[in-house]
Amino acid sequence: MIQLTNIRKKFGDNEVHKGINLEVHPNETVVIIGKSGGGKSVMLKMIIGLIKPDSGSIVVDDKEVTTMTYKQLQRLRFKFGFLFQGAALFDSMTVGENIELALRRHSDYKDGDIRERVQYALNLVNLENVESVMPSSLSGGMKKRVGLARAIALTPKYMLYDEPTTGLDVETADGINLLINELKKTLGVTSIVVTHDIHSAFVIGDRFAIFENGKFILTGTKEDIRNSPDDNVQKYIESEIQT
Ligand SMILES: Nc1ncnc2c1ncn2[C@@H]1O[C@H](COP(=O)(O)OP(=O)(O)O)[C@@H](O)[C@H]1O
Ligand SMILES: [Mg+2]
Repeated sequence: MIQLTNIRKKFGDNEVHKGINLEVHPNETVVIIGKSGGGKSVMLKMIIGLIKPDSGSIVVDDKEVTTMTYKQLQRLRFKFGFLFQGAALFDSMTVGENIELALRRHSDYKDGDIRERVQYALNLVNLENVESVMPSSLSGGMKKRVGLARAIALTPKYMLYDEPTTGLDVETADGINLLINELKKTLGVTSIVVTHDIHSAFVIGDRFAIFENGKFILTGTKEDIRNSPDDNVQKYIESEIQT
């Protein structure tokens, strides 16, 4: 379980988080919805200890993250797969080498098993014959799939998705959404997804947290969102006619 309690964070005068609370339960997908520049990516980075909050508590599997040593953070990060905004692949390496590198750096897999792992992960995201291809020759959607393969090659318990469908056309986005749902089912992962795409949010989410001006103005199910009298909540679903 992941638990954020009363998280506060400022960058200079920029107060990004003004007391955030969130719980993510085993095998659930929680979607954080909010405007660009609000502090969603920072939130994900805090969960794996890349950025420290000014105050508040972050607990992952009963352990406090904010006070972890470097070694403890390394161990914590073994549990996480992170799909970064823009996939973040190394352009000078092939697709296969990108995934291999992650396995060498962040897992205990031996050389012999690594090749097998690369294949396994690429199969899971429905990519074939791309191992020796350079990322620059792939479409945006395929790059995301490679980023996803790299994350799941490490058999994470938790997946953090930062804007997994942003910049993709609807069809490609739906392909990624299907994958996110499949990984939840087949691997039993627990996920946090950050997005400003309400359509995708509703396809993949079990629960939703709407982030506005440094706080969650609503945390709940799709029904809770639909039934909310708050105009600030309703404006997020105005674009979403029916699902
Ligand atoms: N390392 C950092 N140092 C200073 N400011 C930062 C840093 N990371 C993010 N910010 C600022 O925090 C705010 C929230 O950023 P971010 O979490 O990336 O927003 P988003 O909701 O779009 O993901 C932005 O104003 C951004 O400029
Ligand atoms: Mg972001």
